[in-house]
Amino acid sequence: MNRVYIKTYGCQMNERDSEQVASSLRDRGYSVVDNEFDADVVLLNTCSVRDQAEQKAIGKAGYLSKRKRENPNFILGVMGCMAQNRGEELFDRLPDLDLVVGTQKFHRVPDHLDHLIQTSNGQGPRPSTLMDLGEEEGSQNTIKDHVSKTNEVSAFVSIMQGCNMNCAFCIVPKTRGSERSRPIEQIVEEVQELAVNGVKEVTFLGQIVTSYGRREFPVIDGKSPFVQLLERTNEVPGIERIRFTSPHPRGFKQDLVEAYRDLPKLCEYIHLPLQAGCDKTLRAMNRPYTKSRYRQIVDSLRAVVPHMYFSTDIIVGFPGETEEDFNESAAFFEDIGFDMAYIFKYSIRTGTPAEAMPDQIPQEEKERRNQVLLDILSKSSLQRNETLIGTTQEVLVEGPAKRGDAYMGKTRGHRNAIFEADERLIGHLVDLNIKRVTASSLYGDLVLAGVDTTN
Ligand code: 5AD
Repeated sequence: MNRVYIKTYGCQMNERDSEQVASSLRDRGYSVVDNEFDADVVLLNTCSVRDQAEQKAIGKAGYLSKRKRENPNFILGVMGCMAQNRGEELFDRLPDLDLVVGTQKFHRVPDHLDHLIQTSNGQGPRPSTLMDLGEEEGSQNTIKDHVSKTNEVSAFVSIMQGCNMNCAFCIVPKTRGSERSRPIEQIVEEVQELAVNGVKEVTFLGQIVTSYGRREFPVIDGKSPFVQLLERTNEVPGIERIRFTSPHPRGFKQDLVEAYRDLPKLCEYIHLPLQAGCDKTLRAMNRPYTKSRYRQIVDSLRAVVPHMYFSTDIIVGFPGETEEDFNESAAFFEDIGFDMAYIFKYSIRTGTPAEAMPDQIPQEEKERRNQVLLDILSKSSLQRNETLIGTTQEVLVEGPAKRGDAYMGKTRGHRNAIFEADERLIGHLVDLNIKRVTASSLYGDLVLAGVDTTN
């Protein structure tokens, strides 16, 4: 009765939360399995950012109900954003659901499972269901344990939770609550521990990392708490690369631009959500910046790191986005020349301001606009990758590639690289001579000890 399978939907923050839950379950004597068919307990860690993500998890939960009929002791739980967003309603929708755990209660999962299991063993009346959705002070500090203390080359580190913005389209402030940051010291200790265990790259996670600690910790020498954290992390021996996601254009100040100039470990890749490249749409979205401000940030970063790589999030088909607005957005998107982008078709989220906005865009039109941006993206990322042919790129070797017997890793610019290598190189930084590229990947040969082995 103690084999748990966790399925994760959505963002890196969710991945990280699931890892935390797995770690706490292992400490409690549960075994975390990687196959739902071997499990006595299945926990779905869910995403609410778009309707499709919620529907997927609901479909999965419905399917898992079968297991309950075969085995009455089987336990099914929903955690995370959809749990927080829908709460009680989930029990109506999914009559076989046992457990609903919100985004501030991940650390309570072992207690809740213990309870459900004990009561189902005849040691007490089994509560039909258990729901835990409250706010919890300090819950941001509970996401700190990593599952595999070895073999991890790159690790996500959660630095804050919640979001105080109110973008008209977004459900996240409801599902994740308001901003709360972990102390710098505690984060640095976590990074040090990861480094001792062989981790070479850390990615800081937060809904809006540029807001990190702004109410809790002081600005020192003109540097925001977030930049102080980057500086401290840059000093940690063994850590070779620092990344983060996501900053917000509003909080993107000169101190962060200068961090790219001054901190060698900070990789020259940034994911900076744009959402729309048209001032009218940005205003309607309640995004407090203009496209010219966004452009300024991009330019100031390129001024300190000319080969900076840019990634973004952008939404097509926001209510009221006319053909003209979209064309303006697409032209701006093309003009920046993104290396990577996550393009989203606007999805109505109940309870958000945009839900009630007039002029919702028909699905086919959203599909069309989506395709226009995808085409622009594949052109710009291919063009950029082509400039890398013949260059030598530093790659952090992560492990075997998905197909064939090649290995994969990432360049500092977060390009996917595929190459012949040896298991012993996993976790090492290697130089790769780039021979061939696609829009999404670089293919190359290792340059070993200064000697190009292909010659
Ligand atoms: N519809 C479509 N995309 C959305 N996002 C957030 N809310 C919505 C929505 N209602 C996108 C934003 C955000 C990313 C994580 O998801 O681009 O940055």
